[in-house]
Amino acid sequence: MLDIDINDLKRISELIYQKYNYDFRNYAMSSFKRRVLRIMELKKLTVDTLIKKLNDNPAFINEFLDELTVNVTEMFRDPSFWRIMREEIIPAIMLNHKQFKIWHAGCASGEEVLSMSIMLKEMGILQDVTMIATDLDVNILERAKSGVYPLKNMELNEKNYIRFQGTGSFKDYYREENGMAVFPKELLMNVSFRRHDLVLGDVFNKFDLILCRNVMIYFNQSLQNEVLKKFHESLFKYGYLAIGSKESLIWCDYSNRFIVVNNEEKIYKKIKD
Ligand SMILES: C[S@@+](CC[C@H](N)C(=O)[O-])C[C@H]1O[C@@H](n2cnc3c(N)ncnc32)[C@H](O)[C@@H]1O
Repeated sequence: MLDIDINDLKRISELIYQKYNYDFRNYAMSSFKRRVLRIMELKKLTVDTLIKKLNDNPAFINEFLDELTVNVTEMFRDPSFWRIMREEIIPAIMLNHKQFKIWHAGCASGEEVLSMSIMLKEMGILQDVTMIATDLDVNILERAKSGVYPLKNMELNEKNYIRFQGTGSFKDYYREENGMAVFPKELLMNVSFRRHDLVLGDVFNKFDLILCRNVMIYFNQSLQNEVLKKFHESLFKYGYLAIGSKESLIWCDYSNRFIVVNNEEKIYKKIKD
């Protein structure tokens, strides 16, 4: 059976860092290993041929990254999270600001961003919100920008929307074209998509709400600490941070600067600078 040892994984992450400036050295080892093994299997590579390909063929890096990062996502993922957003978090932000800013960090193919836009549209405030959606993976960002998805994904998205108790009819939000669901550009009018690396990238703005769901689960504890520090700096005081339902901040150095607003949905509020 295909296997790879920890030293070879370290060689690979070091090579990607030195040659391409992508830093996976502090990603959780178990999932990093699974992804590398998957790439070796898909591309029929041994450890040595993989390392050689990464060394000799710079064009391979994007393909490699695309397989390395886990881009799985869906619209209205965890519908109860979206109900809390609509009923508690967004109204709480609006008590102080009529216009506000959201950062979707690790937005993958953009389903989370579209869900936010649809929810804000139904709340009648889409025009008051500026959103920045970022990801490490440039290929996946192109998909996110397009707002076009396979029609076959719509069944699950619609089920989530119904459980979220959206006020419209999900099918009205897109048109069907050649087996694809095409969402109108107006839904993304206030969104700017850009590449940003949570590990090596800078703090670039201040936000009222940051969603970084199902991303930090791939990081080890020291990287989670660093990234939480960046989120803390990127939030206005009393701003909100949402992470994935299976993730937790409690072990992080900066956790005492936040309070838990909703433990099931993993929503936190910055209370200390
Ligand atoms: C599983 S998806 C999460 C998508 C969405 N937030 C959700 O919950 O459905 C994880 C995303 O994090 C991105 N990612 C991984 N490492 C990153 C980093 N260092 N900086 C920015 N994005 C990163 C991946 O490219 C991937 O698209």
